[in-house]
Amino acid sequence: MNAPFRAVIRGSGSYLPKRVVTNAELAKRVDTSDQWIVERTGIRRRHVAAEGELTSHLALEAAKRALAAAGMNAEAVDLIVLATTTPDQTFPATATRVQAALGIGRGAAFDVQAVCSGFVYALGVANNFLALGQHETALVIGAETFTRILDWNDRGTCVLFGDGAGAVVLTREPANSERLPRGVLSTHIHSDGRLYDLLYVDGGPSSTMSTGRVRMHGPEVYKHAVVKLAETVREALAANGLTVADVDWFVPHQANKRIIDSTAKKLGLAPEKVILTIEDHANTSAASIPLALDAGVADGRIKEGDILVLEAMGGGLSWGSAVVRW
Ligand code: ACO
Repeated sequence: MNAPFRAVIRGSGSYLPKRVVTNAELAKRVDTSDQWIVERTGIRRRHVAAEGELTSHLALEAAKRALAAAGMNAEAVDLIVLATTTPDQTFPATATRVQAALGIGRGAAFDVQAVCSGFVYALGVANNFLALGQHETALVIGAETFTRILDWNDRGTCVLFGDGAGAVVLTREPANSERLPRGVLSTHIHSDGRLYDLLYVDGGPSSTMSTGRVRMHGPEVYKHAVVKLAETVREALAANGLTVADVDWFVPHQANKRIIDSTAKKLGLAPEKVILTIEDHANTSAASIPLALDAGVADGRIKEGDILVLEAMGGGLSWGSAVVRW
């Protein structure tokens, strides 16, 4: 993209609700076991939002932490793009609740709905606004209270998900001719709506006037995930003239450890380059990538100048990838 600016990530932050639910606790509610969940998914526990704790609350905490990490004040922010599938209300956008809580009364705040691919979509949207010079400073947030839309009688889905939020702050810098400068180097997003019925919620304001619950054909989603994720990572690397050997950190959407392992193997990526949080967070949908990113930054693995590849797939089906120089 020949744009006047490029977007640089200045800081990241994340937030997890306090309550932790183990597999053993779930096994008291549905016919499952810690062993089954760990073997099939890699998940051991997940955080669950408290009653009255909303997606916007998780998002706000993550956003505040990202701003603090960037050493910036909320007044600088003139764009908030929030990826979620579990908004506080049908409208207004949850992003506007975060905007208000941060005391911001200018710029634009809106939600992006691409389920588990939401963060990659939101990053792509914000990156384009910054790169074209329409906005200066963006908060990109992935936040979910996904456990609210689970059917707690369906053992095939209720064991897979958790709640949480992650955020990054981006500022625009003049584009230059440097090869692989710091910042968002590329984003690629895709969807194939013909596959919408593999993973969906069986309700909504227009269809049932109720929220609905998650329904999934797990093995079908699994098959599509490994193929499409490997494809989009390859296109991301090719777009930047990179090879797998150039990747410092692979930061995948945390849906299932087996999907992550298979994708990494297909790409020839060393397991030690993969940031994994699935064991402790489960699948937090749009929040999982920024949560993993922030974990890698907080423990010092991700350092300035590192090449990061982000990827995700989710309902829609939707999928995508991003390459970032940290
Ligand atoms: N505990 C015990 N048994 C279970 C459970 C459970 N929690 N869930 C399903 N089973 C049973 C099934 O009933 C079935 O039993 P049966 O053989 O007697 O009929 C058996 O386990 C096998 O079921 P499958 O669905 O074929 O199991 P599979 O090995 O495919 O694993 C899983 C299921 C983990 C959901 C897997 O398909 C998967 O990970 N799919 C990807 C879906 C995903 O990650 N979605 C997240 C959203 S999309 C995304 O983020 C990419």
